[in-house]
Amino acid sequence: MKNILVFNSSVLAENSVSRVLVAKTVAALLVKNPGAQIIEHDLGCDPIPHLDTATVAGIRGVPESEAEDAARARSDELVAELQAADVLVVGSPMYNFSIPTGLRSWFDYVLRPGVTFQYTASGPQGLLADKRVIVIESRGGFYSAGPAQSRDFQEPYLRALFAFMGLQDLTFIRAEKIGSGAEARAAAIENAEKTITSVV
Ligand SMILES: Cc1cc2nc3c(=O)[nH]c(=O)nc-3n(C[C@H](O)[C@H](O)[C@H](O)COP(=O)(O)O)c2cc1C
Repeated sequence: MKNILVFNSSVLAENSVSRVLVAKTVAALLVKNPGAQIIEHDLGCDPIPHLDTATVAGIRGVPESEAEDAARARSDELVAELQAADVLVVGSPMYNFSIPTGLRSWFDYVLRPGVTFQYTASGPQGLLADKRVIVIESRGGFYSAGPAQSRDFQEPYLRALFAFMGLQDLTFIRAEKIGSGAEARAAAIENAEKTITSVV
């Protein structure tokens, strides 16, 4: 049985493009893997707490207080889910040229030295077994080519973070020009849906 780990990180609820496309991706995966087990996190509407003094001490140090214990327990749980997952589906809107802080916070809890990555004499090494990661990117503008391409700190950042933990099997599906009116938005969703159908 496959384990599918799903993340939404849009702060919008029903008006979110990435949520629609994440749902479509999960539905397509379920057709191929009818018995799959799904774990879902809503990092947009129900975010993991951001790092602070106690959480970082709990996640990266030796927990010494109730708050630090709680942060470590949450981190352990999120890492265990990640280790057990066969496929990740990640909804990532572009916010201020990068990823939403809710999604960033999840990375803060799972990027653990000695657990998901380590430094060796030959450089950093990811410690996760490779697995498929499907990322849905929704963007107001167009970054795939042209003058705005150099302001895309979303996809290169996500590629770097996943690769840092050892995940190389990355598929990115972009819905762009969401901010260019209803027609452009509908076309972007339709294109992305076609891509989902062909790659999943
Ligand atoms: C806080 C915020 C920041 C945004 N920053 C950018 C940006 O830097 N570049 C861009 O192209 N679109 C930006 N957008 C537009 C979103 O990327 C676009 O609306 C996308 O559809 C959001 O995904 P969602 O529909 O799943 O919420 C921003 C939207 C919000 C709410």
